[in-house]
Amino acid sequence: MADLSTDFLGIKSPNPFWLASAPPTDKQVNVLRAFEAGWGGVVWKTLGSQVKNVSSRYSSVDYNGTRIMGFNNIELISDRPLDINLREIKECVRLFPDRAMIVSLMADNSREKWHELISQVEDTGAHGLELNFGCPHGMTERGMGAAVGQDPEIARMVVEWVMEKATIPVITKLTPNVHSVVPTGKASVEAGTNALSLINTIQSVTGIDLDTLVPNPNVAGKSVFGGYCGPAVKPIALKMLTTISQDPTTRKVPISGIGGISTWKDAVEFMLLGATSVQVCTAAMKHGFRIVEDMCDGMNNWMDEKGFKTINDFIGKSVPNLTHWEDLDINYHIIAKISQDKCIHCGLCYIACEDGSHQSINLTQGMPYNTYTVKDEECVGCNLCKLICPVENCITMEVHRKGDEYLNWKEFQRKGLPLNDH
Ligand SMILES: Cc1cc2nc3c(=O)[nH]c(=O)nc-3n(C[C@H](O)[C@H](O)[C@H](O)COP(=O)(O)O)c2cc1C
Ligand code: SF4
Ligand code: SF4
Repeated sequence: MADLSTDFLGIKSPNPFWLASAPPTDKQVNVLRAFEAGWGGVVWKTLGSQVKNVSSRYSSVDYNGTRIMGFNNIELISDRPLDINLREIKECVRLFPDRAMIVSLMADNSREKWHELISQVEDTGAHGLELNFGCPHGMTERGMGAAVGQDPEIARMVVEWVMEKATIPVITKLTPNVHSVVPTGKASVEAGTNALSLINTIQSVTGIDLDTLVPNPNVAGKSVFGGYCGPAVKPIALKMLTTISQDPTTRKVPISGIGGISTWKDAVEFMLLGATSVQVCTAAMKHGFRIVEDMCDGMNNWMDEKGFKTINDFIGKSVPNLTHWEDLDINYHIIAKISQDKCIHCGLCYIACEDGSHQSINLTQGMPYNTYTVKDEECVGCNLCKLICPVENCITMEVHRKGDEYLNWKEFQRKGLPLNDH
């Protein structure tokens, strides 16, 4: 039985699964039910100045029969009174002292307002603070949320204000609505933040109702750019996380990974790329709190299988495996192989390779079905046919190196080696 317990800046939780700041964490009744279900921690829905929400608030991108592949919201920070939130946070900490209680904050743009909010939250006994520099809608118009996160110098100033006052660990949550998350991450670390979390939601228009011509979600005939999240954003979040894990300044602090995490596998991927804890929002909103049971079981089984005893044994292990294109080995070459036993003769690989790749699959007409084989000398090993084939392991990729030694692009040019004639 592996040990899933997590120590994030001294904040202990029985597992690395935290609920992200969002509706599942906006009130005591929910947070208590989440803790009962087994969540290791929560980031309480962002507290700040008083706001009013609109109706409707959510929309989605469904794909190929899957509901909510991507999720979009135009919701603001907590619209509940601050004193009620503070009272409820205190009660949750009292009832579940072994779970991580992080409170997300977005104060008005002044040092005094930040200091006031921080001392009110610290009085609840919360274990950490998360600075919401990422909210992409509603708050930016007031110079808050993503407006702070999109300008490294403003972020630096706000983190400095926070660090003057905070006595508990501070996590700065980054917005993905920038060319690179590194400059704001760096400025925040230089200003003293104890940790980083990412990503918040990505600005989006999820679609337009073709009857009313109004984009979704529809608020009395109008809409605004929303914040996109859910499984669709996971690859973008993983890329952004990697840049933070690789930068010499930002990699000095612990990272909480967020963005499209729905399963234990997703969580492990974030941790392999440097996250110490992971946060989940859309998956919990779609499937409910109990998904954490499968997440813990799955991670536990995988760790046992791999021989990892604690989560520190694998955090960041895949970071060095993401490198620069120039460093890739040009002599590594793979060729597709079609298993004639498994093939169902659908022809999808042939069409894809003919029209989308290198015309490397032979079609031999026959009765009752056609046969497909790979032209070894033509195949560039792009993977397209394997990705398209509907039969598991019917197409495998076999290694046929072009040379024994490692050869990168610079060496290739230096040696004046010939280009492809495909
Ligand atoms: C309805 C909704 C409300 C959210 N509210 C907040 C918020 O108040 N503060 C915050 O930092 N992030 C907020 N988020 C962003 C999430 O915390 C999280 O960063 C994002 O949804 C990505 O995670 P996911 O793909 O698991 O949903 C909200 C997300 C959703 C869907
Ligand atoms: S790997 Fe690419 S080039 Fe080779 S057969 Fe498949 S689709 Fe064609
Ligand atoms: S896609 Fe797969 S199953 Fe279909 S013809 Fe190609 S190899 Fe056979």
